[in-house]
Amino acid sequence: MSYFTRPLSVLAAIGLAACASSSSEPMPAPSAAPAQAAAAAAAPAVGGGEAIISATQVTTGRNQFRSMCTECHTAAEFGDATFQLKWSRRSVGDLYEFILTAMPDDAPGILTPQQAVDLTAFMLEMNGFPTGSATLDPDQAELDAITLARIRSE
Ligand code: HEC
Repeated sequence: MSYFTRPLSVLAAIGLAACASSSSEPMPAPSAAPAQAAAAAAAPAVGGGEAIISATQVTTGRNQFRSMCTECHTAAEFGDATFQLKWSRRSVGDLYEFILTAMPDDAPGILTPQQAVDLTAFMLEMNGFPTGSATLDPDQAELDAITLARIRSE
């Protein structure tokens, strides 16, 4: 009977080796998923290159600006390097809120939310935002989510 022992032990050894090799298979590379997440995070933010204002809204804002704001301002002030440096750290919502609550300086509070958002659209257009079919709504939370980072000239 002893001659069966050897082949059996060889088979057992092969079996163990097979198990050992299957359990030591390399783990999937853990770096693939984080790389994809980083690529998604680098996608353009809201308002990136997409038109969020319309030419009609800009014209409405420009007309309001001429009738209510030029007593103290020139349009050029709102597209120069100083303006861009200051506001590029803020959001469209910050600009909208400032206009709505603080302007005109001699009568703050007289603007309606719609007038303030149209004036904001006019300023965005002066700072390179493209026009298209969409319009900005006077929705504070929505406007807060749109960065002004890209108005900064290089
Ligand atoms: C009576 C004068 C006066 C009128 C009218 C006026 N503003 Fe102003 N505006 C000012 C003054 C003064 C400042 C600076 C004060 C400050 O920053 O708080 C200012 C600042 C601003 C700023 C910020 C500028 C910056 O460089 O950060 C914006 C935007 C603005 N005004 C928009 C408007 C709009 C839009 C209107 C018309 C609805 C308007 N203003 C009407 C006097 C005026």
